Amino acid sequence: MKGLWWFAGGAVSAGAVALAGALTVIVTGAFDARASTQHGPVTAWATHTAMQNDMRRGAKAVQAPAAFTPAQTVHGLHLYMRDCVSCHGGPGVPRDAWVQGMTPTPPFLVDASRRWTRAQLFWVVKNGMKMTGMPAWGATESDADVWDVVAFLEAMPLMKPADFERLEKIRPAAAAQAAAQADAPNRQAR
Ligand code: HEC
Repeated sequence: MKGLWWFAGGAVSAGAVALAGALTVIVTGAFDARASTQHGPVTAWATHTAMQNDMRRGAKAVQAPAAFTPAQTVHGLHLYMRDCVSCHGGPGVPRDAWVQGMTPTPPFLVDASRRWTRAQLFWVVKNGMKMTGMPAWGATESDADVWDVVAFLEAMPLMKPADFERLEKIRPAAAAQAAAQADAPNRQAR
């Protein structure tokens, strides 16, 4: 019984020391918050793993559509060109140069749909990711528009730079109209 008290006491003191250490780092500015230096391996692993697991957990409540229409893919491409390409690049399209100054650096998404399900992609595009610079597009875009971006993300691995250029030239107004028609039943249902 005595041993148990010693153990509990030790655990409480260890916790207090850890807390004091963390507070010292926070209060004194010892935490390296600069974006100009990379994360250390432990911080990189901890933040990345926590985010990916949150993405898997959050997406469980998302009901993904069974299929996307070509109009959705084309509309998604135009939204992607407006909102995403500067950070993530596209087939044959580099990221903007200033993105090198971000920590973490946004990844290329050419194979994102091979690594993530539709629901997971929807969840991360809609909600963004804290402490990465990935915006929550749900703040400004409808769910229907986020699904169109997901339709495009899914089509992107099969797209050659020439396809991308060709689809980009389809007039946004025509693409938006086609997508609006394709979305009409969903919009009424909501
Ligand atoms: C300001 C830059 C920026 C913009 C704009 C941006 N993102 Fe991101 N995105 C990021 C960063 C940073 C990450 C996190 C990378 C990491 O996990 O380390 C990220 C992560 C992601 C991921 C998860 C990738 C993975 O494999 O873990 C997806 C998917 C994604 N973004 C899609 C989009 C889409 C779609 C858009 C446009 C609607 C967009 N992003 C716009 C910066 C951006």
